[in-house]
Amino acid sequence: MLRPKAQAIDLGGKPDLKDPDLYMREEHHEVFRKLRAEDPVYWNPEADSSGFWAVTRYDDIEAISKNPKLFSSAKNNGGHRIFNENDIDGNDTDASMISMDPPEHAGYRRMVTPGFVPRRISNMEERIRARVTRLLDDLPKTGEAEFISAVAAALPIEVLAELFGVPESDGPKLFEWSNATVGEDDPELRVSDEYMQQCIVEMAGYAAGLWQQRLEQPGEDLISMLAHSKVGGEAMTFPTYIGTFILLVVAGNETTRNSISGGLLALSENPEERRKLLDDPSLIPSAVQEIVRWVSPVLHMRRTATEDTELHGQKIKKGDKIVMWYASANRDEEKWDDPYRFDVTRYVSPETATQLGFGAGQHFCLGSRLAELQLRILFEELLTRFPDIHVSGPIRRLRSNFIYGIKEMPVRYTPEA
Ligand code: HEM
Repeated sequence: MLRPKAQAIDLGGKPDLKDPDLYMREEHHEVFRKLRAEDPVYWNPEADSSGFWAVTRYDDIEAISKNPKLFSSAKNNGGHRIFNENDIDGNDTDASMISMDPPEHAGYRRMVTPGFVPRRISNMEERIRARVTRLLDDLPKTGEAEFISAVAAALPIEVLAELFGVPESDGPKLFEWSNATVGEDDPELRVSDEYMQQCIVEMAGYAAGLWQQRLEQPGEDLISMLAHSKVGGEAMTFPTYIGTFILLVVAGNETTRNSISGGLLALSENPEERRKLLDDPSLIPSAVQEIVRWVSPVLHMRRTATEDTELHGQKIKKGDKIVMWYASANRDEEKWDDPYRFDVTRYVSPETATQLGFGAGQHFCLGSRLAELQLRILFEELLTRFPDIHVSGPIRRLRSNFIYGIKEMPVRYTPEA
């Protein structure tokens, strides 16, 4: 079965957080503000499933993320998406680490961690800068471009190709598959169910070819790491490898792309914040955290209660779905001063909370350092070379309740002499 499309439901004036159009229309922040104040553990019925508890406050989301015993990510309990991952089969993938609980989770995470340790990531800095430089060299001399295809999508996909040790020319395929994997609710990406199925089959075939090749000829890349590492003396099973491959393609790509585009949009809408970065580029690392808080490119992750429990007076039953809305936690007025202000200096203060865009607890984003590095280098180079680059027309958003994305974004800038 393919990933189900999100079916919106009429809740008689109450919000349906599953409705992808809520995010397309950019109405979610107002809805979350009300829920945090009035109904922080909100029961959201579903047209085609059991319904879920929507958790919207920062402290609750952090606590749930850090309690995997009570709030499970495991595929056999439903996994990390609102739909039940265990209802979807037949595509030869098994759970990846993101849909596992401790202690199993730790072993699989350990297999991939060496690919993301600080030393390895900082070694990539020079090559990432060279990629950014080339992408910016190629921006049209007309002073007008479509930023997503030219820069925001291109960079993470090239970096992913490097991590996998595959030629850059494979980038467009990885891009297409990744879009199809998260685009189940966007008619432009889910062209047809047959097309979705074909993408999954092609991606699994591609991943299988790499696995075989790296078993025979190991290299320094992430695929070789997966093919040769062991958990408790056992090699990773092939279906788990395929699941992990798909996780890395999507996680490494959609999120970084939409932070880059959402970051430039925020700077365009807040010229005084851009001015601060132009005057003092040492603020860029703080700006990167603010961009991830502001955009929250992953809107939510889901858990499943393993026991009956209670939260803010709501009786949660064993087996209930709990959906943690990071986009809401990152605007929680209990946690942030002036949460609706985009402020590139916010993280200069040591008292500032950690933004929750990368999650928390066991599943805290494994690629956060890599994402931060790409964002930092991109904005350093972009603002140095095109200080006046700005969004110049209407953007087109991804239709999704999971990834807060931008598909098209026209920009204008003064071309370099
Ligand atoms: C701005 C960019 C990014 C954002 C906002 C982001 C967000 C997240 C979030 C919220 C989670 C937590 C999942 C949970 O608690 O259930 C996560 C996990 C993960 N991310 Fe990222 N991510 C980003 C970039 C990346 C990159 C670049 C990679 C790799 C190339 C990556 C790989 C992963 C992996 C493997 C996990 C699963 C970790 C685990 O289950 O232990 N992410 N990410």
